[in-house]
Amino acid sequence: TAAAALRPQPAPRTTTKLRAAAAPPDEIARRRNFAIISHPDAGKTTLTEKLLLYGDAIQQAGMVKARANGRDSTSDFLAMEKERGISISSTCLTFEYGGARINLMDTPGHADFSEDTYRTLSAADNAVMLVDGGKGLEPQTRKLFGVARRSNLPVFTFVNKLDRPAMSPWEVLDEISAEFNLETAVRTFPIGDGERFRGVYDAAKDEVWLYTRTERGKKASVERISWEDRDEISEKIGDEELDAQLEEDREMIRELTPPLDDEKLKKGEMTSVYFGSAMGDQGVEPFLDEFIDLGSRPASRPLRDDKTLEPSHSEFAGFVFKMQANLDPKHRDCMAYVRVVSGTFRKGMKVIHGRTGRSLTLATATMLFGSDRDGVEEAFPGDVIGLNNPAGGLFQIGDALHTGSSVAFEPIPSFSPEVFGYLRPTEVGASRKSFAKGVDQLLAEGAVQRLKERGNDGPDPLLAAVGELQFEVVVDRMQGEYGVSCAVERVSYTIARWCRPELPADEAWAAVDAAKKEGALTGAFYAEDMFGRPVLLFRNAYTVERLENDADLDL
Ligand code: G4P
Repeated sequence: TAAAALRPQPAPRTTTKLRAAAAPPDEIARRRNFAIISHPDAGKTTLTEKLLLYGDAIQQAGMVKARANGRDSTSDFLAMEKERGISISSTCLTFEYGGARINLMDTPGHADFSEDTYRTLSAADNAVMLVDGGKGLEPQTRKLFGVARRSNLPVFTFVNKLDRPAMSPWEVLDEISAEFNLETAVRTFPIGDGERFRGVYDAAKDEVWLYTRTERGKKASVERISWEDRDEISEKIGDEELDAQLEEDREMIRELTPPLDDEKLKKGEMTSVYFGSAMGDQGVEPFLDEFIDLGSRPASRPLRDDKTLEPSHSEFAGFVFKMQANLDPKHRDCMAYVRVVSGTFRKGMKVIHGRTGRSLTLATATMLFGSDRDGVEEAFPGDVIGLNNPAGGLFQIGDALHTGSSVAFEPIPSFSPEVFGYLRPTEVGASRKSFAKGVDQLLAEGAVQRLKERGNDGPDPLLAAVGELQFEVVVDRMQGEYGVSCAVERVSYTIARWCRPELPADEAWAAVDAAKKEGALTGAFYAEDMFGRPVLLFRNAYTVERLENDADLDL
């Protein structure tokens, strides 16, 4: 019998293993995800690296190389990103910290990529607003904050670079509350700035975190001292002026700033604010601890029929919010990123692809640790998994995947494109096959949209983007990844309007044609999107306004 006990047990039958199941409540409860919104150079990459240091992701992904070779880091890994020092892709980094599972959804920092950012924010449950303490609010912070607000995300604010001469923290707080009409709950507050930056006062715990400077890339050594040991604090700070300032700031915080109101935070009416230095790893830990405490758990999602889908639902469901081709230049591939909304994802499970009704077996899925991917056995609400998008492009942004009965998520909001142009190969005899393949894969990512002039079946796609840089990215990647040199021939329209988007394409076109017959649509360029729906392009806002008044088109 002893020998029998040692005999290997039969493997569990895969069918039971792959049956749809609700996610374990504790797995849902320990998940936190967030997207960082910031202006380029505010320190997003640096903060990301520091956060990963707290988790176990660095060892797992072997990415300590991060700063050793210049600007190279795990969350910015495309060649062009390195070259230009901007972050184009929105990858998702996962790490464990303090019992929580954190999914950091990286958002591109450049203004031209707001479409992508929009989608990432639509898949996140929290936003972290990173502000350069020397500069305060900057244009891209403002723009992205607007997006976070529309998605009703709780916003955690980290004011960075306090190790450099900074604005008065009170001024930064004023700026945030005045410009964003947001209450600010001070959670940590800086003790000094620049050369004299010593640490932060932690208002929640009524203690100070004093740091000793360390070498770059290493964790700062810290001493936490309770306010009760007031003398010890003064002694350690060793600077009378700073110490008096701290005394005064603490009073002001306690008497003049609103206390944290969890409900307001969750509704996006209040932001909790932290100060520190990502580079020096000062003030990062109290921020991360609180984020885990206060951050929203994976939330329910609105469905089209005014219902919501709860994470605890017994079937798996998720939606594609981001696509990316050629993550790994050695393998021609395209990844679709899926935000898990409900149920348990298991490797090998069968799901239904909502848009086509096809049944798919998800044999492989990956989670991203920077540029390194790991296979995923299981995933739960709040997680992001990467699925291989087979050649030909099965997945599109917004697609739902589910087990059980069908699920239709509210569509992901999108920005209206503002630049348009035909993508054309520049060399005679360029491979049309490579061109078409590149176009299909890159456009499937959704960084630019593909339109088609009505009635023009030529092979060159009409691209629509939010900014010029998106065109440059497409041209650069067509050359680099598909070997086809291309150029974008711009057309001079600046505004796109979807006409009667609530109608099926043919009915929407009928409405457009009716308006056209009445002579209402002069000056418009007629295009259709990839679903054949009418999109009218205009040269300026004035024409649109005039048409809105003349034709009953809801432009
Ligand atoms: P981004 O991803 O938001 O664009 O910013 P990134 O982290 O790349 O940081 C932009 C610059 O700001 C970098 O300097 C970085 O070192 C610096 N930085 C980030 N956080 C802090 C901080 O807390 N304190 C200080 N003093 N600097 C910070 P760089 O000169 O562009 O690059 P590098 O040569 O330092 O790598």
